Amino acid sequence: MIFRGMMLMSGTSHPALAEEIAKKMDIPLAPVDISRFSNGEIYCRVRTTVRGQHVFVIQPLANQVNEQLMELLIMIDALKRASVGAVTVVAPHYAYARQDKQSAPREPITARLVANLISVAGAERLITMDLHTGQIQGFFDFPVDHLSALSLLADHYKAQNLEDLVVVAPDVGRVKTAKKFSEMLGADLAILHKERPAHNEVEIGAIIGEIKGKSCLLVDDMIDTAGTITAGAETLAEQGAKDIYACATHGILSGPATQRLNDSSIKELVLCDTVPIPKSRMSDKFVVISVASLLARAIVNVFEDISVSTLFHGEDHL
Ligand code: R5P
Repeated sequence: MIFRGMMLMSGTSHPALAEEIAKKMDIPLAPVDISRFSNGEIYCRVRTTVRGQHVFVIQPLANQVNEQLMELLIMIDALKRASVGAVTVVAPHYAYARQDKQSAPREPITARLVANLISVAGAERLITMDLHTGQIQGFFDFPVDHLSALSLLADHYKAQNLEDLVVVAPDVGRVKTAKKFSEMLGADLAILHKERPAHNEVEIGAIIGEIKGKSCLLVDDMIDTAGTITAGAETLAEQGAKDIYACATHGILSGPATQRLNDSSIKELVLCDTVPIPKSRMSDKFVVISVASLLARAIVNVFEDISVSTLFHGEDHL
């Protein structure tokens, strides 16, 4: 297919996903040089004319968050100075999303700061997936196309026909998503009450709902250190769950995550490829589902001014 006036460009955060999207759309990635000076400063040069083009920059903010964010800003600046027509950032994982409000005095709201940086650099639109909270869209003064992986994840479980299935929200923040997911799967719903005594520490209090003897499916937006999901799984196991499954859109898998998941009672963990999962962090328990087709369809719809809402099956976020 020919999309006259559209270009795809990738930063260094997830070239495999960018290539997959480009393959689905049957267009090449535009050439760009990105390197580092000896002191760590980032150099970027776009190696083709972008004058008047609508450029979609694919750069999830994932494992090297600060490096990848700075690289994105510099790429946008290079494009603007080369008289690009419009820049849409395709960041299926949006970093700092958990810092979306002040939970204690004198804290920053970093999710808003990142939105400001992307706007000031010159982007006009963001395509993202399963934001930690949907309200983050309001941090941008330009349109945000907020996609969800929920229907892709649901397709995986529908094919498995799990009996006596209960979808479990690992904390109260995920209840709406878990409810929607349970409806998609025709399953029951249970809710865990999570507390965080400190950053990256998790304690599970009460369980609301019936899980004894059932197949339980934990659903979350992201798995970072895997503290939340594994604490949830252990509570479910202690309370008599039959089998425990888990899924999340973003597999950040930092620090002890893979070890914790391997040691946990979780039988299978389904993740999407919104961020790269290095081989060293993979496990036999993981199944990775691609979001490339969904993102390719969103890019085409945005470019051609066609409704994107048909792709919003999860609507509210994971
Ligand atoms: C928290 O509200 C999020 O939705 C995730 O549950 C959490 O950020 C996952 O982090 P971790 O895997 O480190 O517990």
